[in-house]
Amino acid sequence: MIAAGIVAGGTGSRMGNTSVPKQFLDLCGKPVIIHTIQKFLDNSMIDVVAVGINPEWRDYMEKLKNQYFGENNNIIITDGGADRNETILNIISALEKYGATDDCIILTHDAVRPFVTDEIIVSSIKAMESFDICTAAIPATDTIVCSNDGITTDDFPLRKTMFQEQTPQTFRTGTFKKVYYAVSDEQRKDITDACKLFYMCGYKVRLIQGDVSNIKLTFPDDLLMAKFLIENKNKA
Ligand code: CTP
Repeated sequence: MIAAGIVAGGTGSRMGNTSVPKQFLDLCGKPVIIHTIQKFLDNSMIDVVAVGINPEWRDYMEKLKNQYFGENNNIIITDGGADRNETILNIISALEKYGATDDCIILTHDAVRPFVTDEIIVSSIKAMESFDICTAAIPATDTIVCSNDGITTDDFPLRKTMFQEQTPQTFRTGTFKKVYYAVSDEQRKDITDACKLFYMCGYKVRLIQGDVSNIKLTFPDDLLMAKFLIENKNKA
């Protein structure tokens, strides 16, 4: 089985004082998360889309699901967790109830990245033939500097070795459970990124080509950029 795991357990505090969490904000006539779910539903390699939603917004999400997708049995909704990795764990539990076994490939993807492409989805799945974990990433365009105190620089890493991680991050559900429980509760609190969890357990994370348009909506200006991208989709 190949699943998309849409992580939507956050509240989007950096988006400011919005009436709904950022994943539900309107983007050209549809909530952001509906755009994202649709991208995976439209890909024939994906068997099921499982969404981990902030429990306070679960009813809201169920209503959106009915409104946009009707009785689609290939969409599962479950509670998100206290952090991103716990949301993934909850999604995996929901997939297991749906029939997934430990070899189920899961493409974990931010609900707030509505511009994921078919190319990224397909190459993520293909990478699973030879790797246990992969992530979409793009080469850093700005020079990245390292600063421990945020005031002065401590390091200037070589730009050509710097990449910006995106999602999807893809792995098998059984391997995720293994790495999740292999680290201590204390360590896990500091690791919000699934790839880092794998890295800490000795796995090499395969980078696959992301896309500059695969942006994450974090701040209000990102939403403006997203609207611009949709409105000008066919003009480039
Ligand atoms: N996420 C999640 N479960 C959590 C926290 C975050 O599934 N407990 C998800 C978010 O819903 C989002 C993705 O992880 O789709 C990326 O995280 P981020 O952009 O940081 O989202 P928020 O935590 O919602 O935003 P903020 O940090 O601004 O509050």
